[in-house]
Amino acid sequence: MPETLTLSLADKIRSLKKTRNAVLVAHNYQIGEIQELADYLGDSLGMAKFAAQAREPVILVCGVHFMAESAALLNPNKTILIPDLEAGCSLSECITADQLRAWKSEHPGAAVVAYVNTSAEVKAESDVCCTSSNALKIVESFPPEREILFVPDMYLGQWVRSRSQRKIHLWNGSCHTHVRIRSEPILQLKQQHPKAEFLMHPECGCLTACMHLADKILSTDGIIQRAHESSAKEFIIATETGILHRLNKENPGKKFYPAAPEATCEFMKKNTLEKVLWSLEDLRYRVTVPEETAQKARQSLERMMAIS
Ligand code: 13P
Repeated sequence: MPETLTLSLADKIRSLKKTRNAVLVAHNYQIGEIQELADYLGDSLGMAKFAAQAREPVILVCGVHFMAESAALLNPNKTILIPDLEAGCSLSECITADQLRAWKSEHPGAAVVAYVNTSAEVKAESDVCCTSSNALKIVESFPPEREILFVPDMYLGQWVRSRSQRKIHLWNGSCHTHVRIRSEPILQLKQQHPKAEFLMHPECGCLTACMHLADKILSTDGIIQRAHESSAKEFIIATETGILHRLNKENPGKKFYPAAPEATCEFMKKNTLEKVLWSLEDLRYRVTVPEETAQKARQSLERMMAIS
């Protein structure tokens, strides 16, 4: 896209945000141009917290659908927009409310911990939500003897299980982008850059193989923060590649090597500057949750926020 067109689109978006009294909340995997326009840029937990406290009547969520749904649950009286309704999440598609109800009936008395990457219907069937940054804390908030059903990401669940003494049953779900991140290229990168710190997101498909090699296993905001704080000059980054924009921009003297340059989420990239502009122009696409589902789903999200 020619730079002048990009600039003019960005300017129009900035001005329309003011006219609409809207805030733009973006995830760390969004395209760089959208990250630059965000009033808040962060991970799933940060986005939910920001949305919960926003004063503006319009919240434009540049992320995937469950993120906009979380904002809608936490702000029932505001207009929640997403630029493209096709910005879904493969992980949240891994379990339906019916499947969860059936699983619960096999484990009476177990507590359900749902990763936020789930539909509102699944959240409504859960006891509490979690994100990659607070999953361990949430699981450990239950009494040690209580069984846990963890949905839907088995890798995040495995990681939590490896760090806690809890009896955790895992749902067989995964993120189609993070499963592409494999151990062989990471081993090669570690050989090529022996001084590099290896930072990994817990959704990665190579979690079990690489857990012992990772310097830190963190949420996307955790990775951003660690890159700032660490004295290392090089990093191997195992997560979706959208995070590299922010890492490179905020750490000019440091080098970041993606563990899988092809690990790009096409759903996150559905949002473009044009669609952001149209979304603000036409106040579309509105994301709402039916009140009966919303009441229960909101409780799961609010319990999470109270613990984290
Ligand atoms: P974070 O909460 O770590 O940003 O992860 C969100 C996500 O959807 C990862 O695929």
